[in-house]
Amino acid sequence: IDELLEEGVEGKRVFVRADLNVPLDGTTITDDGRIRAVVPTVKALADAGARVVVASHLGRPKGAPDPAFSLAPAAARLGELLGAEVAFATDTVGESATATVAGLGDGQVAVIENLRFNAGETSKDDAERGAFADQLAALADLYVGDGFGAVHRKHASVFDLPARLPHYAGHLIATEVGVLKKLTEDVQRPYAVVLGGSKVSDKLGVIDHLLEKADRILVGGGMVFTFLKAQGHEVGSSLLQEDQIPVVQEYLKRAEASGVEFVLPVDVVVAPAFPDMKTKAPTNPETVAADAMPAGQMGLDIGPATSELYASKLADAATVFWNGPMGVFEHPDYAEGTRAVAQALVDSPAFTVVGGGDSAAAVRTLGFDENAFGHISTGGGASLEYLEGKTLPGLAALEG
Ligand code: 3PG
Repeated sequence: IDELLEEGVEGKRVFVRADLNVPLDGTTITDDGRIRAVVPTVKALADAGARVVVASHLGRPKGAPDPAFSLAPAAARLGELLGAEVAFATDTVGESATATVAGLGDGQVAVIENLRFNAGETSKDDAERGAFADQLAALADLYVGDGFGAVHRKHASVFDLPARLPHYAGHLIATEVGVLKKLTEDVQRPYAVVLGGSKVSDKLGVIDHLLEKADRILVGGGMVFTFLKAQGHEVGSSLLQEDQIPVVQEYLKRAEASGVEFVLPVDVVVAPAFPDMKTKAPTNPETVAADAMPAGQMGLDIGPATSELYASKLADAATVFWNGPMGVFEHPDYAEGTRAVAQALVDSPAFTVVGGGDSAAAVRTLGFDENAFGHISTGGGASLEYLEGKTLPGLAALEG
């Protein structure tokens, strides 16, 4: 983008593909990290006199307008953060978008409605995506990719549109890629990776890859129970991906053979049922040994002995990457594991990277100062796929 700013953008319509996919409670944004992250790029362009058209997806609507997934709250928040009026188009490539963009003066900013209200955005059909990209291209003269959280998606606005316009990488993408490079090239050791979250299948690729790269892998979150089951333990009514058991068993064997320390919880917090997330009413949790979970109980967080163990494994690391909460942190009864891991990262002298929408939201909603971490990535799937060594369509398109 520096190159673009040097060339001059005054009066030019610049399409900024951002990732404004923020968590919402109704129309209230519960974590605005992703919006704040794109402000430097939008501001730099607006200050240089560009007519900035910001676009993003939000959630997973089904290719048609759905008010529950409107970007209006994100547009309003962007305006507050910029301290400027931000126009909002109530469609993506229709009359409202065309009129809104035509009405922009130099240095003004507009947000267009959720890209995923159009089936062409996420279509697997190249022609369908291309047709939508053509419509988007008509709104702008230049393209700036800055939606790091979506660069792993081969979507029209991420992959096809940059091929149709002169394209540049924004500040956020440049920063994110710079940090991820530190985790893949010349990494400082010991290199510890903490993986949580609910689905083991989402993390398999990265575990597979990290078994060759990391020194320690610590596991938390719902995927713990697939590992415990693979070791022959009772997991009660906990989340379980039976079909992944053979894969997980192979990983445990490979870890042993390669000398990677693979660390699983020694205790877990259980309850008879999943808590009510609407009322967040107190439950009756109990801590049990990980190899002695009672039948009928559901594991919802790592236990205190595990938190202590994981903190000790992070204390002398030189590099730490963390993706995925350790438990159901949104409920106060099951937030301790995630809080403990976040605290261990804060206390560690290591270069620490928090990756992923959920983990980033967790550290902020649990009250941590984001400056206490080396870097908080705006990308969940995107940073994992980068670490897996995959080619990311949104980055490849910017290089092309
Ligand atoms: C994310 O939240 O990881 C990104 O915004 C991508 O969203 P998606 O998984 O719905 O494509």
